[in-house]
Amino acid sequence: MAITRIACDVKDLALADRGRLRIEWAAQQMPVLARLRERFQKEQPLKGLRLAACLHVTTETANLAVTLRDGGAQVALCASNPLSTQDDAAAALVNDFAIPVFAIRGEDKDTYYAHINAALDTHPHITLDDGCDLVHTAHTARKEILSGVRGGTEETTTGVIRLRSMAREGVLAYPVIAINDAFTKHLFDNRYGTGQSTMDAIMRATNLLIAGLTVVVAGYGWCGRGIATRARGLGAHVVVTEVDPTRALEAAMDGFRVLPMREAAAIGDVFITATGNKNIIVREHFERMKSGAVLANSGHFNVELDLPALEKLAKSKRTTRDNVEEYTLADGRKLFLLGEGRLVNLAAAEGHPASVMDMSFANQALSVEYLSRHASELEKKVYPVPEEIDRQVARLKLASLGIQVDALTPEQQRYLASWSEGT
Ligand code: NAD
Ligand code: ADE
Repeated sequence: MAITRIACDVKDLALADRGRLRIEWAAQQMPVLARLRERFQKEQPLKGLRLAACLHVTTETANLAVTLRDGGAQVALCASNPLSTQDDAAAALVNDFAIPVFAIRGEDKDTYYAHINAALDTHPHITLDDGCDLVHTAHTARKEILSGVRGGTEETTTGVIRLRSMAREGVLAYPVIAINDAFTKHLFDNRYGTGQSTMDAIMRATNLLIAGLTVVVAGYGWCGRGIATRARGLGAHVVVTEVDPTRALEAAMDGFRVLPMREAAAIGDVFITATGNKNIIVREHFERMKSGAVLANSGHFNVELDLPALEKLAKSKRTTRDNVEEYTLADGRKLFLLGEGRLVNLAAAEGHPASVMDMSFANQALSVEYLSRHASELEKKVYPVPEEIDRQVARLKLASLGIQVDALTPEQQRYLASWSEGT
């Protein structure tokens, strides 16, 4: 029998057995994706397509990659963050599923981009991105591949912001579907997924008792409200910081204390940023913090905490536990940084639970199928996930949970479409 060597750069193929078992475990919680996989196996809607996917390399992503492969596509996968790769899942994808993977947990910046380039070397017809680094690379260093790309998908808020900026400037070379903006994505993944996995990561890394602590959450968007709610559920006093007046008001009426970061800095025990913006916690805030304060970020990039300022303020630094760095400041105070300031839920835990990624990745699979049929009809713009796909994902997820809902009667449909009936 001929043995085909799969192109890859992963940490250690000997981790594959453990990875395969964990991929199977995640699959049990991904019934919607499983249904799509069955249909894809029969119908082969992606036959002949090359896909380059830049996603967090987790057991959930592994199930998406296998679904796309079973739909007939050739898939190459690289990491969308240097610290989010699960090396065992990466090994299993190569060893057991023959999917090329270029991702190693802890890779440096050069390797990170070398891996993105390796995925782009496959000359994809469709790109899947999480944060827009692959699309950015394709539009700058790898322009020669752009003419072959028909369309793409983007998983997260920060990536969609970058893509909209590209579209505004007229540089986006192909249509991209904003998966993040589907209701069945951000209402669940960003809120419940980030909420639970962020608190999970902080507890795994520190083993702190959250009850009674003051937890400061920066940003009351979909991720921030999920984190704030879960921190409150664990017994924390939660303070929210915001810049958007409506969202600040929502936080206040949801029962959270809302403060400017300058004031919150002095009272917080744990700080969690989830804004998608930069320099949320800076020198003046570090200077006001209590000794022992824990710093974590769950936003896409490691720019929310001003790490260069923290490095400058520190007189020494050491790793005290896995994913915990202790910074000792000149006045003797100690601040603890989790997961190098990268998205803590993936750096110090396993990312969102499979059950919620089931919906995000069903949107991905169906949007890739949609692009395979309709990309040529689309302009070089950012598109929402087609409403029918979003609703289909909700229906399938409800069915998998055994939840039934009512349906509008014809009389109710007419009533909701008319203006004639009043008091
Ligand atoms: P969002 O747009 O819904 O919310 C961001 C909020 O931050 C907004 O309300 C905004 O007003 C606020 N904000 C901006 N600048 C601020 C500042 N200086 N101070 C305080 N608040 C500020 O976005 P989201 O969907 O919640 O995503 C937030 C980030 O998390 C993005 O980077 C996104 O890509 C990322 N994300 C991470 C995960 C994960 O697994 N960790 C999952 C989904 C999204
Ligand atoms: N983003 C957040 N959690 C994730 C997970 N488990 N897999 C892939 N991407 C994610």
